[in-house]
Amino acid sequence: MNTKYIDLIDQTYYFPQEEFNLDGEYLQFHGIPLNELVQKYGSPLKFTYLPKISDNILRAKNWFANAIEKNNYKGKYHYCYCTKSSHFQHVMHEALKNEIHMETSSAFDINIIEKLKKDGKLTDQTYVICNGFKREKYIDNIARLINSGHQNCVPIIDNYEEIDLLSDAINDTFKVGIRIASEEEPKFEFYTSRLGIGYKNIVPFYENQIKDNDKVELKMLHFFINTGIRDNAYYWNELVKCLKVYVRLKKICPSLDSLNIGGGFPIKNSLAFEYDYQYMINEILNQINITCSEADVPVPHIFTEFGSFTVGESGGAIYEILYQKQQNDREKWNMIDSSFITTLPDTWAINKRFIMLPINRWNDEYERVLLGGLTCDSDDYYNSEQNMNAIYLPRYKREKPLYIGFFNTGAYQESIGGYGGLQHCLIPQPKHILIDKDENGNFTYKQFRAQQKAEDLLDILGYDVTAEDE
Ligand SMILES: Cc1ncc(COP(=O)(O)O)c(C=O)c1O
Repeated sequence: MNTKYIDLIDQTYYFPQEEFNLDGEYLQFHGIPLNELVQKYGSPLKFTYLPKISDNILRAKNWFANAIEKNNYKGKYHYCYCTKSSHFQHVMHEALKNEIHMETSSAFDINIIEKLKKDGKLTDQTYVICNGFKREKYIDNIARLINSGHQNCVPIIDNYEEIDLLSDAINDTFKVGIRIASEEEPKFEFYTSRLGIGYKNIVPFYENQIKDNDKVELKMLHFFINTGIRDNAYYWNELVKCLKVYVRLKKICPSLDSLNIGGGFPIKNSLAFEYDYQYMINEILNQINITCSEADVPVPHIFTEFGSFTVGESGGAIYEILYQKQQNDREKWNMIDSSFITTLPDTWAINKRFIMLPINRWNDEYERVLLGGLTCDSDDYYNSEQNMNAIYLPRYKREKPLYIGFFNTGAYQESIGGYGGLQHCLIPQPKHILIDKDENGNFTYKQFRAQQKAEDLLDILGYDVTAEDE
């Protein structure tokens, strides 16, 4: 009988895969020797493999270029990065190597944009698409950016008051977009997204508040489907509804020339992941071509705002199995040396799946387990529900350490987890390693942050840590 972990994977999936392969009994991710990484830096750790960010941006640009050619599409394509998925400077710098644009969601994002501009990483030509509900500080910051000459900053109107607030704060003319509030998926608990303006109200809103406002030029219609860009009836239905609004608006608003289809490109969350990106983009452009030609209006330029897709597949987390607790005949809890709630909060909050694989011991026998985090919260676990199938790992042996990796975790986990802040049960935030490649193609490693120390947490909590040292 084949009872080794490697046999299980071989029988269940195509393996090796593009980014995962084995060196003996050790797992490599894009060729990175993960076991060496963990031996060098210790566990737990998080890492970001920077080249994957550029790689994914180029993949998407390439798919759009192919689709534009195939559909003889007359508009241009602009790739924006949705900054909220990871604001880190190293992520932005890597992404900006690829002539991309930016999408922001709140006031402080604009401070980041200004800093990147100052450092020469982006210019006035870079589109800065400002989404989100705009309160005073965000309005002020957007106005400051536009007043400083950044004409390609396009605030996307999310509520009826924003046009007036922006008009008051901006000195000269400016461009805007309008966000359509999409209808939520039928199984969702609300009918219409709280974000944006309802389908039926878009044209009246333009007529009443924009058309006669000399300062404002409507350039973009924005539409984002919460469930992402999926090949299902719901997505195609919403897209067509949005295109109908686009053509109606275009007929009365000649300056409108862009359609922003938001983010929501999926990323690989299992070894069995399948998604035909090229087909989806072809079909989106095809639908736009059809609707615009029926209505006899020119096709729009296309903007996307991929967050997860840009940065998700660059990130990973490695933990050690510290101990096994057998709580009854069937439930064996493998305890990791960190917390799922704080380091991968989406696993806990929205049952999100990530690829999980052992780093070592692939030639050992496997067993079925549950994975538990170190906090005393009973919800701090990762189980078969998130992991699609049951979790199997090489059999726990006290004398043979086992390390496991969670992959494609690079989007949202740090900001949702409150990076650098207070942690549940004061389980410290792990160290963070940046991995890059030098000009010879060799991996380079840099510790971006050390593991949090007791003083860091005590300081946040208001204890006078310096007084103790005296
Ligand atoms: C307006 C907008 N654009 C883009 C995104 C990015 O989505 P994703 O990370 O799924 O690509 C989001 C995510 O919530 C969003 O709200």
